[in-house]
Amino acid sequence: AKRTFASSSTLNNVIKNVTVIGGGLMGSGIAQVAAQAGQNVTLVDISQDVLKKSETNIQNSIGRVGKKLYKDDPAAGKQFVEESLSRIKYISDAQKSVEQADLVVEAIVENLEIKHKLFKSLDEAAPSKTLFASNTSSLSIGEIASVTKRKDRFGGLHFFNPVPVMRLLEVIRIPETTDESYKAMMAWGKAVGKTCITCKDTPGFVVNRLLVPYVAEAVRMLERGDASAEDIDIAMKLGAGYPMGPIELGDYTGLDTGLFILEGWHKKFPDNELFKPPQIQKKLVQEGKLGRKTGEGFYKYTK
Ligand code: NAI
Repeated sequence: AKRTFASSSTLNNVIKNVTVIGGGLMGSGIAQVAAQAGQNVTLVDISQDVLKKSETNIQNSIGRVGKKLYKDDPAAGKQFVEESLSRIKYISDAQKSVEQADLVVEAIVENLEIKHKLFKSLDEAAPSKTLFASNTSSLSIGEIASVTKRKDRFGGLHFFNPVPVMRLLEVIRIPETTDESYKAMMAWGKAVGKTCITCKDTPGFVVNRLLVPYVAEAVRMLERGDASAEDIDIAMKLGAGYPMGPIELGDYTGLDTGLFILEGWHKKFPDNELFKPPQIQKKLVQEGKLGRKTGEGFYKYTK
């Protein structure tokens, strides 16, 4: 069944100008889907180099989307691509970028101190109506928001990689988030083409809270010698219908990323066995075997 908000059409109009901070993997995807949905987007990164690269990536990616959406009408496809691209501005001054923003989505490096520094300065520069959101995967939204004076207009908007392809958006409320802010974020998520789910501000929200310990448990199983990596993966694919096995999935998302998330949670919640980083994963990361991206993790990959 389709769920809709009674006033979604008015709420959709609340957010027209979006500023995305961080032009890396996630930020460029978020900027793209917003521009495709007709919004004015400002994409910010401290690095000019990153901004250039994200511009090229977004051009290529929207080009592909245009071809697919307008298979039978190349002229309309071209117009869609040009209009979408024309809605994105690329700048490096974060404070300036939020002056007209209805919504700011932060997708910078996963580091609480750096996020605090950014949000403090954005809080001073943005109009009071502006909604703030973080795309953090593993940090607490409440802790990130704590340095601002707008916790009532703060939430989590957690996208998945690759953003233009993955259909889910997790919308996270902190206790202070007002209904109005929350509804505006849900409506925005829907407007940019995602299916939104709601979650409280708990570690990993829904998807990573389940996936990260699941992969870690598969690694522990391997560590104990209960089964081989290949057999664990075959088992979950053929026995549980998962498209990818847990060991493959760990390699795919990056063993360093998984370990970084586990270590952060383990430090904060030392009694939770589920968050304990497995030894063999630590060892592989120390050796620079980070998974698919380095050519080797639990498996070896050839290009
Ligand atoms: P990334 O490393 O590709 O991009 C981060 C970008 O932020 C870099 O281009 C960097 O130059 C820029 N940056 C750093 N400090 C900045 C500042 N103060 N102002 C402006 N720009 C700054 O990282 P990625 O993977 O895009 O992750 C970004 C955020 O999204 C993190 O919080 C991460 O936890 C979260 N996330 C990542 C997912 C993934 O699959 N990679 C999935 C969902 C969320």
